[in-house]
Amino acid sequence: MLDIDYFRHYNDVLGYPAGDKLLSEFANMLSALVRTRDIVTRYGGEEFAIILTDADSKLGFEVAERIRTSIENYPFEGREIQPKGKLTVSVGVATYPANASSKEDLLRVAEEALYRAKHTSKSRVALYFSVFDDLKTELDQSDLSLLNTIKTLITVINAKDKYTFGHSERVVRYSSVLAEQLGLGEEQVKYIKYGAYLHDIGKTEIGRDILNKNEPLALDEWSLLKCHPQWGADIVKPVNALKQILPQILYHHERFDGGGYPNGLVGTDIPLNARILAIADSFDAMTTVRPYQKARSLNEAVQELLRCSGTQFDPQLVESFIKSLKTIQFENEELVS
Ligand SMILES: [Fe+2]
Repeated sequence: MLDIDYFRHYNDVLGYPAGDKLLSEFANMLSALVRTRDIVTRYGGEEFAIILTDADSKLGFEVAERIRTSIENYPFEGREIQPKGKLTVSVGVATYPANASSKEDLLRVAEEALYRAKHTSKSRVALYFSVFDDLKTELDQSDLSLLNTIKTLITVINAKDKYTFGHSERVVRYSSVLAEQLGLGEEQVKYIKYGAYLHDIGKTEIGRDILNKNEPLALDEWSLLKCHPQWGADIVKPVNALKQILPQILYHHERFDGGGYPNGLVGTDIPLNARILAIADSFDAMTTVRPYQKARSLNEAVQELLRCSGTQFDPQLVESFIKSLKTIQFENEELVS
């Protein structure tokens, strides 16, 4: 699935006839870049779908990368007015039957990968992945249907809470680099990732109006929001394979000084995986735009972690986290060490 980045901007500046011309030129170029037996089609607006026959994800990725770079280097008319001075595309790649069980499912996961590509930095190729695919191999039949329910719930949160789109995935990334920095075993790191992915699942119980509110929450709304760790734990509880992540979900809003919720646990009484998650979760919240808060720079966020070290966060973990951040490649910013 492909989408032309900032196409609306192109249309706005150069007008619809120019936009239409670009679309047809773009479509011709796509057809020329794939094999004759592949299918190229316009899916809607500036979104295109390509079906590669007999291809695995590796080939899908290679073709997508080739398309992305060819488009970027092609001298489309008017490309200089685009944000990067050139026409760029974002691509999501998914494979049947590895990632999907039906045509509809394949479209859905390819779109999910495309959204990921667009929301992280645009002009890139994202391969579909899901922690659920890893999990599936470890689950017994009875857990599988529940897991599908959980998966649907995650899609619900993403649709409902537009500000946290991609939040869970970034929190997975931050939690796992911290866990690795701490030298934790593979098995524990794996559960830390699952917990990080699912930590806000309890928010599915909370209304869109509260999740996307543009001003500070009223007291009753705030007490509702504070229920999400418990509700999340309740949702995941019936899945046997996820028993280990319950404490992580339940206690991810506890504070090291005991001032957190739901139980006001103090210090190392808070499970380690939840203390890790608390740092990863807050760091992402600080560095992304929220309804009533602009994003801090990476270095400001690091300063904030240090300021809250020992009160909100476990001081030793803050120290390790700051070290581990140096292993992450950030899009537009650099960390001052
Ligand atoms: Fe949360």
